[in-house]
Amino acid sequence: MSEPRVSVLMVCLGNICRSPTAEAVFQQRLEQRGWHAHVQVDSAGTGDWHVGEAPDRRSQQHAAKRSYRLAHLRARQVRLADFEVFDYILAMDRQNLRDLEVLCPEPLRHKLSLFLAPINGPDEVPDPYYGGAQGFEQVLDLVEAASDAWLEHLAARHPLP
Ligand code: 4NP
Repeated sequence: MSEPRVSVLMVCLGNICRSPTAEAVFQQRLEQRGWHAHVQVDSAGTGDWHVGEAPDRRSQQHAAKRSYRLAHLRARQVRLADFEVFDYILAMDRQNLRDLEVLCPEPLRHKLSLFLAPINGPDEVPDPYYGGAQGFEQVLDLVEAASDAWLEHLAARHPLP
């Protein structure tokens, strides 16, 4: 199996709700398309409060209703090497993007983008942490739409099978 040629990092604040959801949804779609050997996806948080933890139980439960598995994921914080390693670094909201812009060396800032940039509609995935069930469903709806849009974007720019 060849090395992944394209890599994508999903970033939110805690890496326990939005970005692990995005990682799992994106991974499922890569596998559906047979692209998982060519595109690598990971996730991280700008904050360190939840490092080492599994995704929030509510995120896991709502994702499971749509057959996404999150239980194996563990939160980690964004590290400087990520800006070198990953080709696309996708922020769930504008504050995440601002935090990444502060950390990221200027020559690598072109890798940063809002995750929702390629879809019509909101440009942020709202933080569901302090809200109710509807927030977690909205995260999934937005993440599914943006994942499909990013896959089309990648397919147009990279040689994928
Ligand atoms: P996430 O959600 O950024 O989507 O993982 C949050 C998780 C935890 C906290 C905030 C947002 N927190 O403040 O602990």
